[in-house]
Amino acid sequence: MHSDTKRFLFTAQAPAAPCAVNELIQRLPNARLETWLRPDLGLFTTSLPFPEVSRLLQDGTSLPPIFVRHICPVDVCFSTPDASALTAACADVALLAPAGGACCVQVRDVDGAGLFPLLCQTLKDIGILPDVQSSCVLSATLCDGILYAGVSSVEENLSPFVGGARRYAHKDGMISRAECKLMEATELFSLHFPKDGTALDLGAAPGGWTRVLRTKGLTVHAVDPALLSAPLQADLGIIHHRQTAQEFLRSWDGASFDLIVNDMKMDAKESARILCGAQSLLAPDGLAIMTLKLPRQHWQKLTNETLRLLEGSYRIRNARQLYHNRSEVTVVLSQRTGENS
Ligand SMILES: C[S@@+](CC[C@H](N)C(=O)[O-])C[C@H]1O[C@@H](n2cnc3c(N)ncnc32)[C@H](O)[C@@H]1O
Repeated sequence: MHSDTKRFLFTAQAPAAPCAVNELIQRLPNARLETWLRPDLGLFTTSLPFPEVSRLLQDGTSLPPIFVRHICPVDVCFSTPDASALTAACADVALLAPAGGACCVQVRDVDGAGLFPLLCQTLKDIGILPDVQSSCVLSATLCDGILYAGVSSVEENLSPFVGGARRYAHKDGMISRAECKLMEATELFSLHFPKDGTALDLGAAPGGWTRVLRTKGLTVHAVDPALLSAPLQADLGIIHHRQTAQEFLRSWDGASFDLIVNDMKMDAKESARILCGAQSLLAPDGLAIMTLKLPRQHWQKLTNETLRLLEGSYRIRNARQLYHNRSEVTVVLSQRTGENS
């Protein structure tokens, strides 16, 4: 390989992997896919140093990639055919970390060879503290006997989580796994909702998102012809409108909402049109969050077309396929009048 060639790993949901490759090729000059290590894990070659790769992907002139979940640099690469080769490779990888400092160790041990404890111990042996809070990330991936490693800052990797996989423990009282989508969007995009504010939840049943919003102190107007889960039915902070979103929007003459969320199970463009019809109900500094439900194919095309539709009424703040999205993309919107806020 040419000495100027740099490499990085990226992850995407397996069905979205071709979309992720397109996003990278379109934004990075001379970049190409070298190989797939797994259906959701690819190795890219580029002439650019990793910080420049990251800067081009999130330079603020356009939305960051939607389908690329996480990137990390490959500064070194070792063949590790046996345990002693892996131990020796870890000793070299540990030298990438800042001497005498701390770093966050992020390991993907696809081979299941005990890489995480081995690397942490190797770092400790040379006086480096593994620390999940550190903004310096040492990424190491072991796959098919090859160890790939590199150092970057947490912001450069597009996600602070290993491979972009944000996992939540199942908690008592949870109503649906859908809750994780809203929690992940809130965390990843640093969203804040006004305590004591009012939310409109379109397609609310069985009530997972409604429950999450209640834990944040919001009063929720939950719109869905289907029933909400029994524990929510006694909550006076939830007003259930047992009708479709279209019926609700035609008849609502109350106050505007600080937050509108839309997880309706329907064609993405149809859902976006309904949300555009709710734009006048969103407070000037309010937020809207929706999931675009994607069909079996043509994810990129449908996503682009739906975002263009939404842009007619809203400013698009974020659009990402989150870890907890399956065949979906999560979009965060605000009023166009607040473009700079
Ligand atoms: C994926 S579920 C929503 C899950 C919910 N966010 C949660 O956390 O529990 C989709 C919901 O959309 C509702 N839905 C589909 N079309 C609708 C419409 N036109 N108006 C209102 N709700 C609709 C369905 O009844 C279904 O309950």
